[in-house]
Amino acid sequence: MPKTLTRPAWLLMMILSLLVALTAYRYLPRIGPLADNVMANRFVDPFLFVHVAGAATALLVGPVQMLPGLRARRPGLHRLLGRIYVLGCLSGGAGGVALALGATAGPVATAGFGLLGVAWIVATSLAWRRAVQGRIVEHRAWMMRSFALTLAAVTLRLYLPLAAMGPLPFVEAYRAIAFLCWVPNLLLAEAWLFAAPGPASSRSLSPNPAAGR
Ligand code: HEM
Repeated sequence: MPKTLTRPAWLLMMILSLLVALTAYRYLPRIGPLADNVMANRFVDPFLFVHVAGAATALLVGPVQMLPGLRARRPGLHRLLGRIYVLGCLSGGAGGVALALGATAGPVATAGFGLLGVAWIVATSLAWRRAVQGRIVEHRAWMMRSFALTLAAVTLRLYLPLAAMGPLPFVEAYRAIAFLCWVPNLLLAEAWLFAAPGPASSRSLSPNPAAGR
């Protein structure tokens, strides 16, 4: 994939991630405009707080982790931010699955968001395990998948205004978006990994004992 094409797209995604993460934090003190359908969720208390605190933090930290310069120059900082990212994904994912079970848009939305939450937890856990085991090529691949799923928060918010303008009743569009916000992201991540598979061997790096603690 030519860098001239991917770099601006990547930069735009990073900026959108920061914007979405920072605006999402308003759900913690519940200040500002809050979505009615979300506040009507059966499990909004306490799971919205757990979900937003974790997920928005993962979205904030994830782009920093992708900077190759930081990984090479400050490996200690990369590990610290990595632990924060993993904790954010796991709590955000668990809260997301609970919210999915209470979604007002019905079983299709529950399935879409629920599967996203489970996939997010699995990808992030595998990425973390592979780092602890020193299997760095696989760590990188699983982190790419994890971050593609984290970016569902951004793609969802790009689709929502389109859904409001489109021909379908909003609730039907919302059900489709529960899948559309993450399945294409995951396919793109796979295409990216296929096009740029990274170093051939993961054996050159020794396991990181500190990451397991
Ligand atoms: C990737 C896994 C994720 C899952 C499974 C998930 C799931 C959900 C669900 C089910 C809801 C409630 C929707 C409803 O009741 O109709 C919700 C709302 C919300 N989520 Fe997530 N989410 C994920 C990622 C994120 C991320 C990374 C953020 C970071 C900003 C985030 C921020 C929010 C916010 C702020 C809300 C409240 C409503 C809104 O503004 O849209 N979520 N999420």
